Amino acid sequence: MPEQGREQWASRLGFILAAMGSAVGLGNVWRFSYVTGENGGAAFLLIYLACIILIGIPIVMAEFTIGRKAQSDAVGSFEKLAPGKPWKAAGLMGVAAAFMILSFYGVIAGWIVYYFINYLTGNLWTAPAEGYEGFFVDFITNPWHPLLWQFIFMALTIAIVYVGVKKGIERANKILMPLLGILLVVLSIYSLTLGGASEGLAFLFTPDWSALGDPSIYIAALGQAFFSLSLGMGALITYGGYLSQKEHLPGAAYSVAGLDTLFAIVAGVMIFPAVFAFGIEPDAGPGLVFMIMPDVFDSIGFGGGLFGLAFFFLLAAAALTSAVSLLEVAVAYFIRKFSWSRKKAAFIIGGIIFLIGIPSSLGNGILGNVTIIGDRGILDSMDYVASNIFLPLGGLIIAVFMGWGWKKADALRDSDFGDTVLGNLWLFLLRFLAPIAIFLIFLSSIGLFG
Ligand code: PFF
Repeated sequence: MPEQGREQWASRLGFILAAMGSAVGLGNVWRFSYVTGENGGAAFLLIYLACIILIGIPIVMAEFTIGRKAQSDAVGSFEKLAPGKPWKAAGLMGVAAAFMILSFYGVIAGWIVYYFINYLTGNLWTAPAEGYEGFFVDFITNPWHPLLWQFIFMALTIAIVYVGVKKGIERANKILMPLLGILLVVLSIYSLTLGGASEGLAFLFTPDWSALGDPSIYIAALGQAFFSLSLGMGALITYGGYLSQKEHLPGAAYSVAGLDTLFAIVAGVMIFPAVFAFGIEPDAGPGLVFMIMPDVFDSIGFGGGLFGLAFFFLLAAAALTSAVSLLEVAVAYFIRKFSWSRKKAAFIIGGIIFLIGIPSSLGNGILGNVTIIGDRGILDSMDYVASNIFLPLGGLIIAVFMGWGWKKADALRDSDFGDTVLGNLWLFLLRFLAPIAIFLIFLSSIGLFG
């Protein structure tokens, strides 16, 4: 039985759409493009796809299964299914990861909202005097502007979680997400006409095999897979916990992972040809999308600004449905654990996350000289620790919990796989391949193999 006062998805579609809304976000456009660009393109993409199929999808299935069975939040689900056992460490790490990820996610999403407003006012329809790149740099180095837009985005996220996830995001997921998909396809076709198509496509799809010798691309691909799928921190457990009726979980997992990956690849086809057409370095870093897309809209000529407007609006909406799922992980936990009301939890937790994000927000301006991990600034360091360490580690524990902590027959039944070839393959991946691969990638990232 669900706990008192818990929401339930109204329909089968409600759940799938919500999970897709969580998965599809800045990770597919902003993060996918810059991380792919930094890691050399096609070879990275290949490892990324392998991570999605062999590690990601099985763990998505594990999170769905755990969530639906337990009908609780990221931590409570483990407490319910394995009382007194240490598995709930995965849930607690997940809540911590939610704080970390949303703290910087709100910053980047704030940049998106700022661009949206600048397309709304017409300010970016033609290149400003300092150029699009100069405009971007001026903005992110401003002492307080990024903070304002981060605040606005976080306020929107809090407002939605405040009224309840289901009510808050249904429309966005049903209408705006498909529109974003269509827009990305249209823009990627256009981008192929800009003169950088052959270089861009080769960068994305023709692997430079020597790149596979660099251990850092594995951890980057693994982290990107987890980040993009909203995986490893109990977001999908939390959403699965609002699932009441029978749902064919494997079908849902394939749809969510398939759609998420499709969005990323289409975004790649949109961005990389343009990157080469406009002579920007693919490894320009987290600003890549912000520097390249305005050039693309500008090149459309009359009416191009409308595409910019639609692009940043729809991307902001996609970011919002992802941010809601991040906040919901923490909020659902605090509601149950401390018997807070939803309103109180949304407000307090959202507020704290905004505060935690302030250093990331100022990390290009007045805190611009601060580096934490290697030469990474504050925002990148937060992202690195949360996405490349916390999420895969959480995923590893979830895989082992499902693979080894459950009776095989129970796992096969509760996942809706039944005793099928796919079901057994799933358990094999959870028991052996996923944990071992994650472990090896961790070892390689700290330089153990070279
Ligand atoms: N998957 C989201 C994106 O690609 O933008 C980000 C995210 C949402 C990560 C929720 C983790 C999470 F729990």
